[in-house]
Amino acid sequence: MGETILNHYSDNAKAVIYNGSCLDFVCSLPDRRIKLIVTSPPYNIGKSYEKKTRLSEYYKEQEKIIDECVRILADDGSICWQVGNFVSNGEIVPLDILLFPIFQKHKLKLRNRIIWSFGHGLHASKRFSGRYETILWFTKNNEYTFNLDPVRIPQKYPNKKHFKGAKTGEFSCNPLGKNPSDIWDIPNVKNNHIEKTIHPCQFPIELVERLILSMTDEKDIVFDPFLGVGSTTAAALKNNRVGIGCETIREYYDIALERAKAAMEGSLQTRPINKPIYDPNNPKQTLDFEKTLQIQKSIAQRSLFAEGA
Ligand SMILES: C[S@@+](CC[C@H](N)C(=O)[O-])C[C@H]1O[C@@H](n2cnc3c(N)ncnc32)[C@H](O)[C@@H]1O
Repeated sequence: MGETILNHYSDNAKAVIYNGSCLDFVCSLPDRRIKLIVTSPPYNIGKSYEKKTRLSEYYKEQEKIIDECVRILADDGSICWQVGNFVSNGEIVPLDILLFPIFQKHKLKLRNRIIWSFGHGLHASKRFSGRYETILWFTKNNEYTFNLDPVRIPQKYPNKKHFKGAKTGEFSCNPLGKNPSDIWDIPNVKNNHIEKTIHPCQFPIELVERLILSMTDEKDIVFDPFLGVGSTTAAALKNNRVGIGCETIREYYDIALERAKAAMEGSLQTRPINKPIYDPNNPKQTLDFEKTLQIQKSIAQRSLFAEGA
C-alpha cells in the first residue's frame, strides 16, 4: 500500500498526485505536517496552461494558496517559491518582489533569495536577455532543518593544505566540499536536456534535489501545489522522501505519474547533480570534475575514518 500512488493523502503513502486544482486539494491536508513546499507557480504570462489576468487578480490567487501552504507547513519546515518575471509590453515585474508581502504577512523568515542562472532563453532586442530566476526560501521558525553536507559542491583545490602555523599539513578547506552559495548555475530544461518532456517550463530535477536534500530528511513530506510534469515528486521519491503534488492538466498529470513510477523503480533519467556545464573552450572540464570528485571522496573518507565516525 505504501508504494501506491494515491489521489488522497494517507499516512502510509509514498506519493500522492492529484489531477485538479491545488486549492481544492490542499484543504484535505492536515495542519503542520509538510516539511518542504517547493513550487514554480504559473507566472501569469499567457503560457499554454494559464490565462493571463490582471496582476491584482493573480496576486489574490497566489495569496489563497500561500495562506494554505503556511497552514500545512511543519514548524521546522521550509517554503521555496521559484518565480521569474511577469512581462507586459517589455516592462518586467519581478514576481518574487510582488509576492514577498504575502510571506511577510505570515511572519515567515527569508533565509535566502537564490539566484538560479541559466544559459538559454528568449533573445530580447530592447533590453538585456533574461537569464535568471529566483527562489525565495522561507522558514516558519528559527529552528529548521538544514543539511549542508549532502549538497556541498567540489572545492576548486580539494588538496590544498595549511603551509604554516599550528595547522601545517592539515587540509585548509572542508574535504566534504564547499557551500554551493546562493547563486546556482544549473541548465534549464530545453530541447536537448535529458529530462525534457512536453511541458514548456519544467524544473531541472537537480535544482529541486538540492532543496530537498538540504531542507528535509528521509521520509519527510515534500509538496508541490503546481506540479507540472512532476519534477518535485520525482526528486522526492528518488531521495526516499514522500512526494505530494497537484496538476490541473491531465496530460501533465499523466507524465507526472509516469515519472514518479520511474523514480520509485530507479529508472528515472536525470542530469547528474553538480555536473559541470559544457564549455566548448574547456571540454576537458568534465573529466577534471570527475577527478576532483574522486579526490574529494577519498579525502572525505579518510577524514571520516580519522574521526572514527
Ligand atoms: C510553471 S509550471 C510548473 C512546472 C513544474 N515545476 C515541472 O517541473 O513540471 C506551473 C504548472 O501549474 C499548473 N497549474 C496552474 N494552475 C493550477 C492550479 N490551480 N492547481 C494545480 N496546478 C495548476 C499548470 O498547468 C502548470 O503545469
